[in-house]
Amino acid sequence: MSETNSKVIVALDYSTASQALAFVDHVSPAVCRLKVGKELFTAEGPVLVKALVAKGFDVFLDLKFHDIPNTVHNAVAAACELGVWMLNVHAMGGRDMMAAARKAVDANASEDRVKLIAVSILTSTSQQALKELGIDKSIPQAVADLTRMSLESGLDGMVCSAQEAIELRKQFGPAPLLVTPGIRPAGAATNDQHRIMTPLQAIQAGASYLVIGRPITQHSSPFEELMRINTSLQHI
Ligand code: C5P
Repeated sequence: MSETNSKVIVALDYSTASQALAFVDHVSPAVCRLKVGKELFTAEGPVLVKALVAKGFDVFLDLKFHDIPNTVHNAVAAACELGVWMLNVHAMGGRDMMAAARKAVDANASEDRVKLIAVSILTSTSQQALKELGIDKSIPQAVADLTRMSLESGLDGMVCSAQEAIELRKQFGPAPLLVTPGIRPAGAATNDQHRIMTPLQAIQAGASYLVIGRPITQHSSPFEELMRINTSLQHI
């Protein structure tokens, strides 16, 4: 695990390892953590993840596992072997699946226990889409219920919007890790994100870590931008 105390996880939303590594050369494990998602992982696989870990970065492997418990157990075990810092599953996979994921993390011999978090309802899901899936609850209620089930299953926390973090902190207290995307420093382009918060607002809303992609990866001075964000959070 790296020595950083930065709350920023930079989303490496690239299609090739060379693009990702070209960006990574601008930053260091002392100033941020990194997220590898489905696109980059599918293209470049575990070799890239291991390379990032070898450079000293804490890596969040964002593959949102959702399958039968045995398969998720084995996938989580394989992810732990890569030396990642954090990984996630879909809470919709259910209690038994999450318990299997927990068991795989607990069986891993690494010194620092890998952080295991869940995704509840994707922010792209509308109320209508949820209904079509047979879930007749409001989205906030579904998020709260899935969070309760995830925490009861022994998970360490959730991916959620900063808006949801306010409610989840009220209901579940200070312990769960809350990892929030949809972050934009003041003045940054919003891109396709709708309900955004600044890094400081998101931490004040209860976020433990912030997933930030384009405002850093597409910045002309990524290192300086990261330092600005880290500095904006240093007094809280
Ligand atoms: O570039 P940007 O800061 O918008 O990137 C946000 C990252 O967080 C992307 O990797 C995106 O897939 C992820 N994410 C998100 N909204 C969610 C869940 C994940 O933006 N609800």
